[in-house]
Amino acid sequence: MRVLVVGSGAREHALALACARSADVVVAPGNPGIAGVSPEGHLIETSDAPPESIPADLVVIGPEAPLVDGLADRLRGAGVPVLGPGAGGARLEGSKAFMKEVAAAAGVPTARHRSVERIEDAARFFTEIGHGPYVVKTDGLAAGKGVLVTPDLREALADVEAKLSGSAFGGAGRRVVLEEALSGPEVSLLVLCDGTVAVPLPAAQDYKRLGTSDLGPNTGGMGAYSPVPLADRDLVETVMERIVGPTLAELSSRGIEYRGVLYAGLMCEESGPKLIEYNVRFGDPEAQVVLPRLEGDVTALLLAAATGKLAGAAPLRATGAAVGVVLAAAGYPSRVRSGDRITGLEQASTVAGVTVLHAATSRDDAGEIVTHGGRVLTVVGTAPDLAEARRRAYAGADCIAFAGMQRREDIAAAPASLPESSAR
Ligand code: AMP
Ligand code: GLY
Repeated sequence: MRVLVVGSGAREHALALACARSADVVVAPGNPGIAGVSPEGHLIETSDAPPESIPADLVVIGPEAPLVDGLADRLRGAGVPVLGPGAGGARLEGSKAFMKEVAAAAGVPTARHRSVERIEDAARFFTEIGHGPYVVKTDGLAAGKGVLVTPDLREALADVEAKLSGSAFGGAGRRVVLEEALSGPEVSLLVLCDGTVAVPLPAAQDYKRLGTSDLGPNTGGMGAYSPVPLADRDLVETVMERIVGPTLAELSSRGIEYRGVLYAGLMCEESGPKLIEYNVRFGDPEAQVVLPRLEGDVTALLLAAATGKLAGAAPLRATGAAVGVVLAAAGYPSRVRSGDRITGLEQASTVAGVTVLHAATSRDDAGEIVTHGGRVLTVVGTAPDLAEARRRAYAGADCIAFAGMQRREDIAAAPASLPESSAR
């Protein structure tokens, strides 16, 4: 059995390690930290060849861009089992306006919104809402950075203007989606879908803002942990019944068979969970803390989803806890500096229960590992409980240094739980 993982981030590193418990893995293009041999003796390689030309028994597509671009359709067309939706299903992430249209048709609880292409329409919508915070999103893909949430109306309208003009996000911002603000703890629920059956993976919580205590701009995600005490069985059941199930049924009525991970970003309001967004893939950094918790044969599970056979798969079991701390480069999430030398990687890996997952790393001329983009590494700690997993993750992260390194200090410091009084 040979699994091809498409992508080059810490999420793909986590996928490679999970699949290499029971299969050989090739990651395309991967990064300098990924290749090696798993403890079970399976080979993990990287390859610069185009994914379509790499022979594999299962392809797992990590990032959103190739999914929106139809890579899953092309591979399925060639008869290869793929975990990842075709371009039709990937529009749930590729266009926030489409996601909102599907959610409305399916009766899914989500924030009130309007898609606009003119600044006057934005001003009118915010006047109707009557109060902040104001939420402005690019319609198209923006690597998690196209969302502004601000209490300041003038800042919101200036952001709409920058996005519509194309100066901020190019074509992705020519249309913007405005929303009323939701509030409450956020939870990411990743659901494995085989076209008919949907199985929720353990929930995770992501930290979207750059700085400790939720300060600074939105990012792709600065850390995560799993399990989330707030996301108990009742909450997950509610999300499956009110949000994920109706969405898959609506897609199916439009002729879209969804095979892959459907990631529901949720805001847990007192009235119950509301959908913030869908992603059409494993979350990053959520995958880094969900995958190590899965027991058993992860490759077999992903293959079952890819081939429409989840109903017959072994029941999914998760164990322990995992905490992931992202180490980001100087300047992230705006002007990122690359080429800073990274020290302490080997030392970090020797800390018990710590795995260092590579993302934006490369080798310089001297063969040393250097930064090569925004989110450079995820340091994951696993342990029987969250407090120990957190201690291990930071003990690992403390070993690593590079110039301008940024990290949050509060990942999993106060795991989200729901007030006793709240209704579901
Ligand atoms: P998205 O890319 O849509 O997930 O948005 C990124 C982040 O912005 C979310 O994880 C939330 O933290 C925040 N956000 C998005 N939409 C809203 C909303 N309607 N109300 C409050 N916060 C939001
Ligand atoms: N962690 C958020 C995402 O993967 O988009």
